[in-house]
Amino acid sequence: MYNKKIMEHFTNPKFFGKIEDPDVIGKAGNPRCGDLLTLYLKIDKKTNKIKDIKFETLGCAAAIAASDMICQLSMGKTLDQAVKINFQDVSNELGVLPPLKIHCAQLVTEALRDAVNNYK
Ligand code: FES
Repeated sequence: MYNKKIMEHFTNPKFFGKIEDPDVIGKAGNPRCGDLLTLYLKIDKKTNKIKDIKFETLGCAAAIAASDMICQLSMGKTLDQAVKINFQDVSNELGVLPPLKIHCAQLVTEALRDAVNNYK
């Protein structure tokens, strides 16, 4: 069901964990599948760039892989650039998620938008 890239991000996520003193947190959940995601961000106040990001996800393999990917894609970007990352970008970077798992990519972009809104 999952390609090699998804499995790599699922089994060996680089951004998994918690930042103890984040500048902002973003959360998203899907009531249908019960998956829950929290993103922790450190923001460079001068440039508004994301200088560190980590995630904790309770969810399926696709949600974990997509969480790792949104962290990878948004690291070093300004908040305005980061909110433009959409679920299709996340899915494409993972080598395309199966159609039934597209909502997992939507979940991670929602969490990032939540973080950006909370920060502003
Ligand atoms: S099955 Fe719902 S986020 Fe993955």
